[in-house]
Amino acid sequence: MASKPAVRTAARSEALDLRSPFERWAESRTSLLATAATAAASRPGPASDPESTARSVCAEVVHALWDERTQGDRQWLTPWKERGTSLHLKQLATRVAKSIRDLSVIEAAYLISSLYTALLPSQVRAERGAFYTPPVLAERLLDLVAAEGVDWLTVRALDPACGGGAFLAPLANRILNDHRIQCLPPRERMHHLEDRLAGIEIDAFAAWMSRTFLQLIAYPLSQSTGKELEIPIFQGDALRVAQHRRFDLIIGNPPYGRVSLDTEQREVFRRSLFGHANLYGLFLDAALRWRSPAGLVAFVTPTSFLGGQYFSRLRDLLLKEAPPLVVDVVEARTGVFESVLQETCLAVFGPNPGRTTVVHLLDVSDRTVKATRAGAFSLQQSAGCPWFLPRSPAQARLAARIASLPTRLQDLSYKASTGPLVWNRHKGQLRSAFQRHTYPLIWAEAVRKNQFGFTYRSRAHAPFFAPEKAQDHLLCGGACVLVQRTTAKEQDRRLVACAVPPEFIARWGKIVVENHVNVLHATGPDPVDPVALAAILNTSTVDQVFRCLSGTVAVSASELHALPLPPREVFQTVAQLVAKRDPGPELDAEVEAIVARAYGVETV
Ligand SMILES: C[S@@+](CC[C@H](N)C(=O)[O-])C[C@H]1O[C@@H](n2cnc3c(N)ncnc32)[C@H](O)[C@@H]1O
Repeated sequence: MASKPAVRTAARSEALDLRSPFERWAESRTSLLATAATAAASRPGPASDPESTARSVCAEVVHALWDERTQGDRQWLTPWKERGTSLHLKQLATRVAKSIRDLSVIEAAYLISSLYTALLPSQVRAERGAFYTPPVLAERLLDLVAAEGVDWLTVRALDPACGGGAFLAPLANRILNDHRIQCLPPRERMHHLEDRLAGIEIDAFAAWMSRTFLQLIAYPLSQSTGKELEIPIFQGDALRVAQHRRFDLIIGNPPYGRVSLDTEQREVFRRSLFGHANLYGLFLDAALRWRSPAGLVAFVTPTSFLGGQYFSRLRDLLLKEAPPLVVDVVEARTGVFESVLQETCLAVFGPNPGRTTVVHLLDVSDRTVKATRAGAFSLQQSAGCPWFLPRSPAQARLAARIASLPTRLQDLSYKASTGPLVWNRHKGQLRSAFQRHTYPLIWAEAVRKNQFGFTYRSRAHAPFFAPEKAQDHLLCGGACVLVQRTTAKEQDRRLVACAVPPEFIARWGKIVVENHVNVLHATGPDPVDPVALAAILNTSTVDQVFRCLSGTVAVSASELHALPLPPREVFQTVAQLVAKRDPGPELDAEVEAIVARAYGVETV
């Protein structure tokens, strides 16, 4: 009888709101996004500036968070001034700050700073590589460096792309919570912190958020010392600042994406560049320079540096100066970074020649992370060679063996290259039907698992090509195997290959291969059977081996050259088998078993 009103009261009471702060935040975030859109649309003056809207919305939320946590004491807050803040926005910001009152400053800071990136125009977000790190991953990286011997009492740490303070804030917490620092008087604690941390950030608003969140963490110290916390956070381009200080720890989640460099910068980073420059590769190179001799670099990065050709010189540099000591691969299904498609890892680099690299597989959810040790692996030491590291438990068993398998494509008398025809440069030469002096045009659609299909469903795929004079380089003849260059992310395999039937080549003489297809040409005097080569590339085992050297959906000629393959005899066995058996699941299973044994495993 008495319980009814109590339940009703509880349901109305904010203090007993049973939704998690994250759920409440998600609701507030949705209304904030809508308000931001309205604010942007109703701004007076010239075309609305979404960046300025993002700043004004988030500044109001940061101010409200500050007021909520300090009972409105703004003595140590330098507010952000942005034009066009409405009363409605202020009220909404206060509601948001309330909705996350149960969260730590670090979790609240992440939610607010990721609201900022969500409000930025997608092009600006992509150009700056502004995808902020969730607290669970930042804490995990800090645990890894602590396990590598970083001491919170003495560490000097730099985040060169500090965003909203995803690493600086938990670093400050760890330093302040160290019992050896806790026993110091407040003024010394404050000095100590100021002396230990530094940040660089190109985006002035993000730099302000970093500074403000750190000041909020140090608010009790400011109260007792009467002094504002002053962590040096430099606003500018980290790749162009002269950095004279050395740090024991360079930590962060640097931006990534291809960039074109001017001559001066190309010269600065020449030692680690091979072809296209990628921002995160430049940050890794720069971090090696900012590091003290025994210092560590701990970065969240895409995994492409482990195997990609563009990172071959960077790998050589890392091997010489600071090889990866630990790599945590974030499991693909997790989707930790909103709208980031690349496979991600946490890696700690440091001086320790000859040591193996420990790999963990990370299963990340909103607020927890589960790490499973996959093993310790030796890195390939030869120049430019990819490093074979597993991204799943199945690959862990393979990765230990494949580095020692010597056979590569060239030992089987094949050479890989990219299909030479970039169709939109030759639009006028595409033909919808055979004519004199035309050749079959092979699109990726023709390449299926162990099956070549010269009939196209897509109407955009013209089946013939009319080469002009001096375009012999576009023609390809002789025995060859085709491999798709990209597969869809959700597709269960990366390698899709087929042999071009000899009778097809005999009929047409030559073929023209489009740019989304890799061509493996028979080169030497004794190439292995192309049908067997395709069948072996199509096995799940080789697919998993390939994934140990590439975390992307792209399959490049250089990766195909680097792929460890079974010895020649296995190709002969498979060639005999496919010659006398009908295609189908039974044959596939037999080939699979033969290939798995060649890699020293039963199945994958
Ligand atoms: C991937 S976010 C990571 C931010 C933060 N460290 C974190 O983990 O949440 C990369 C950050 O680098 C900043 N950035 C991009 N280019 C930069 C540059 N050349 N120098 C300094 N910061 C840069 C972006 O504005 C963005 O805040």
